[in-house]
Amino acid sequence: MQPFWKIALAAAAIAASALSGAQEIKARFGTSLPDSHPQTLGARKFAERVEAKTAGRIKVAVYSAGQLGSDLQMQAALQGGTQEFAAPSTATLAGLVKDFGVLGLPFSFADEKEADAVLDGPLGRKLLAQLPARGLVGLAFWENGFRNVTNNKRPIVRAEDIAGLKVRTMQNSLYIDMFSGLGANAVPMSVTELFTALESHAVDAQENPYTVVHAQKFYDVQKYLSTTGHAYDALALIVSKKFWDRLSAADRQAVQAAAAEATVYERTTSRALNAQLRAELAHLGMQINDVSPQERARMREKLQPVIAKYTAGAGEETAREFFAAIEQARKP
Ligand code: PAF
Repeated sequence: MQPFWKIALAAAAIAASALSGAQEIKARFGTSLPDSHPQTLGARKFAERVEAKTAGRIKVAVYSAGQLGSDLQMQAALQGGTQEFAAPSTATLAGLVKDFGVLGLPFSFADEKEADAVLDGPLGRKLLAQLPARGLVGLAFWENGFRNVTNNKRPIVRAEDIAGLKVRTMQNSLYIDMFSGLGANAVPMSVTELFTALESHAVDAQENPYTVVHAQKFYDVQKYLSTTGHAYDALALIVSKKFWDRLSAADRQAVQAAAAEATVYERTTSRALNAQLRAELAHLGMQINDVSPQERARMREKLQPVIAKYTAGAGEETAREFFAAIEQARKP
């Protein structure tokens, strides 16, 4: 026979764990862009789906426009367990896991369909599987889109027109080397400081998809938009491993299912907006010029040493899988 006090203690332990299973869980999702950008729209959709799938038990509050800090600061906060969710550019993650660097290699993807095939395939899964060792869990890839150069000096007609411009880049060595490789003066900084830097002429130029140029109102401080399309930028929906490990298996499944639904929504929204905002930016006064395929090929040629450096840096095997996956996606 068990003494009474032991039975009472066991019953209390069972009651406590049942209570924690029903307990409300609060999480924070930080984005670097305003409410109108697909990154934040996707975060809000994700929050809504998580809440719906857990009968309102897990609540995800979205803090947009860098309220929780820059992408780098949020990445560190997720690792430390003081923030739960974020969706930074995969270029930012390359600072932690070098293999992510392949995704940003210039002039790799021809269109979004190729990017989806690579990111949702074995290579994408292999990249995400490396995050837990760095204190993060990757749930999905979202889209920022093809990046174009804007500036207030001149249209980029020829590859040489980028030379001499002070170009803000992401705080990532691939992007710094990419623009240095094109002869620009690369100035890394967080996107949250960028409008002021463009307005005060601390930098002449920046590069981002139409959605970012519009959401950040860069049309107020930049005259020329040239469709360099020099890199496809994927975002990664990531969660703090410290938080993830505390969730029950059922809650993890609900969060993963919410991530899958939010991914379809985020990508669809990003594509619809990128298609529609070009005309809107022209209407808002930007001078838009299409960079010819020949000049893009010349830019790619100039960037061969950078491509070689980051292909080697990401690891031979990852690079081989990356280029093979693109080839595969191109097959009719
Ligand atoms: O330019 C940047 O910093 C990035 O495109 C983004 C997505 C705005 C922040 O990761």
